[in-house]
Amino acid sequence: MKQLLWIVSIILFLASCDSLHSTKTAPKSPLNERADAHSYANLTEISTKHLHLELDVNFENRTIYGIARHEMKNYGADTAIFDINGLMIQKVTIGEKGSEEEADMFIDKMDKDSILGQALMVPIKEDTKFVNIYYQTTERSDALDWLDTNLTSSKTKPFLYTQGQAILTRTWIPLQDSPSNRITYSADVKVPSDLMAVMSAHNPTKKNNEGLYHFEMNKPIPAYLIALAVGDLEYHAFSANSGVYAEPELLSSCAYEFDAIPQMISAAEKLYGPYQWDQYDILVLPYSFPFGGMENPMLTFANPTLLAGDKSLVSVIAHELAHSWSGNLVTNRTWNDFWLNEGFTVYFEQRIMESIYGKEVADILALIEFDELKDELKRIKKSEHPEDSQLHLALEGRNPDDGMTDIAYVKGAFFLKTLEAHVGREKFDVFLKSYFETFQFKTVDTKQFIRFLNEHLLAKEKGNFNYDAWIYSEGLPTNCLQLHSTRLDDMQTLADNFTHGKVSFAPKITYTYKKVGKRSKKIKRVEQITYQDHIVQEWQTFIRRLPRNLPHAKMMEIDRYLRFSFSGNSELLTEWFILSANNGYAQTNKHQIAAFLTKVGRRKYLMPIYEALLLNKSTRNFAVHTFQGAKQNYHAVSRKSIEALMLETK
Ligand code: BES
Ligand code: ZN
Repeated sequence: MKQLLWIVSIILFLASCDSLHSTKTAPKSPLNERADAHSYANLTEISTKHLHLELDVNFENRTIYGIARHEMKNYGADTAIFDINGLMIQKVTIGEKGSEEEADMFIDKMDKDSILGQALMVPIKEDTKFVNIYYQTTERSDALDWLDTNLTSSKTKPFLYTQGQAILTRTWIPLQDSPSNRITYSADVKVPSDLMAVMSAHNPTKKNNEGLYHFEMNKPIPAYLIALAVGDLEYHAFSANSGVYAEPELLSSCAYEFDAIPQMISAAEKLYGPYQWDQYDILVLPYSFPFGGMENPMLTFANPTLLAGDKSLVSVIAHELAHSWSGNLVTNRTWNDFWLNEGFTVYFEQRIMESIYGKEVADILALIEFDELKDELKRIKKSEHPEDSQLHLALEGRNPDDGMTDIAYVKGAFFLKTLEAHVGREKFDVFLKSYFETFQFKTVDTKQFIRFLNEHLLAKEKGNFNYDAWIYSEGLPTNCLQLHSTRLDDMQTLADNFTHGKVSFAPKITYTYKKVGKRSKKIKRVEQITYQDHIVQEWQTFIRRLPRNLPHAKMMEIDRYLRFSFSGNSELLTEWFILSANNGYAQTNKHQIAAFLTKVGRRKYLMPIYEALLLNKSTRNFAVHTFQGAKQNYHAVSRKSIEALMLETK
């Protein structure tokens, strides 16, 4: 009975909200253009301006006890609606700290597929400005990755980090979780005194004995960029405004691997204007981190697999740095406009790489990705959602993570590269610079971008550019820019020659005879193609070109001389393990595959390896078994993706 009353009261409450909303005069909010299908927040009526967090991070019971104090711009709302998912709400109060009054609250039921979580509704007055939510996180707080000591490099201290994008911030902070709203934030965080806390904000460079840290982010950012990490951290500075945080054991390799950062910052500033976030630091996380990098402002979160030892994966850092403009300064209004974040960032990343390492290297990187785009296009065409290959997405009712494909990234970047080729680099750079300047600290949707493109670039051009074909059509337009790399062509030839027995990786010994006085001297010459002869992206191209059924003996030969199964480069390992799964060689290198899958949590690597293993009868059990042992080492983002993959491939 009690339950029934509760349900009735919720329905009545919802009905009353609804009628009130529809009879309201047009709101004055700046956000009245478009709603965000992935948030319950009523941003057009009331929106957070500043969020102050009081957090107590408890490693014993893996819980954050928090207060989220929202200072809001109220346009006359009678209800403030927040997003929550997997949070326990203790109480809500209204008013400034010290003069708070407890308020009513209503928590709606979980949405059908539990993607969005729940709406937390707080009845308020027209002039209410302060709403404080007292809460704690739970096991279902998917943003949080709590790591036992054994999963850190020190093996002695635990670690916690958050991953907010796309809609996981609501699993650790009750807030209006939409990229269309920007907020400043501050935080007081209490952590165990032997650990240090860092956030996407101004950060300490040293631990303090109390374990109390204060943070300020005084530039407005979208909710998905609020981030926290707690661990045994040390800092190494590259320059007055850049450096790297890592566990002590990793710090010196980080200092070596990422030392191009100051150079990257100046290259980026030269292209598209000043870096606006004061400080640019990297935080190297434990191996479970599900992404290569995450552009949390002032503090990029990075995967330790980037520490390849030879700086071969620094383009990921260029990418996250580029987000300081595309994404963090100018933010996609909704997740349907995700390509505005990622397509621009990949384009920008390649420009940074080009200015530091030259066009040949930048083109190689772009071609590797273009190759992946072609596969992605084939996959999407056959899928349930062939429309996902348009740049502008329609993700209503779906998980915004579905938009994280090579379409947004690579098709997006090639759209901009094609535009650049059409108008010329000089004009294009002027255009991009003014785009960042015009929309800085704002959010943009696809329509606004198109308007800006027409007014500031295409109107001044003769001839047409069919951007609709890129943005609103499936597949790849025929005018797409074509790139070539003779170095990659050569690797394909090498792969073909090796496959057909014309080339071997074994040392080739030849003797020549040279006359020395009256005698002739035998001179030994050893010729061999070695791993060091090529960069990792060239070897990736080599592997991709090998036939899926390459015989076991050839796989053995490669491993004997090039040692791919033992490589320290995860990009290369991933290509090699996929091929191994496809041609049965996984029987031979299964220990290396299992070790990699158990250690590394980056989804981009895990997914294709698991997929290849799962689709193959002889390796499916091995994959399932490995996953059982490894899943507690993964962040929820990766774990859930692999679980879904297991069902799909059944
Ligand atoms: N912002 C993304 C990561 C992301 C996107 C997380 C969507 C959650 C939802 C980040 O900048 C990114 O793109 N990472 C890439 C790096 C690569 C493209 C260089 C990654 O992790 O693979
Ligand atoms: Zn990105």
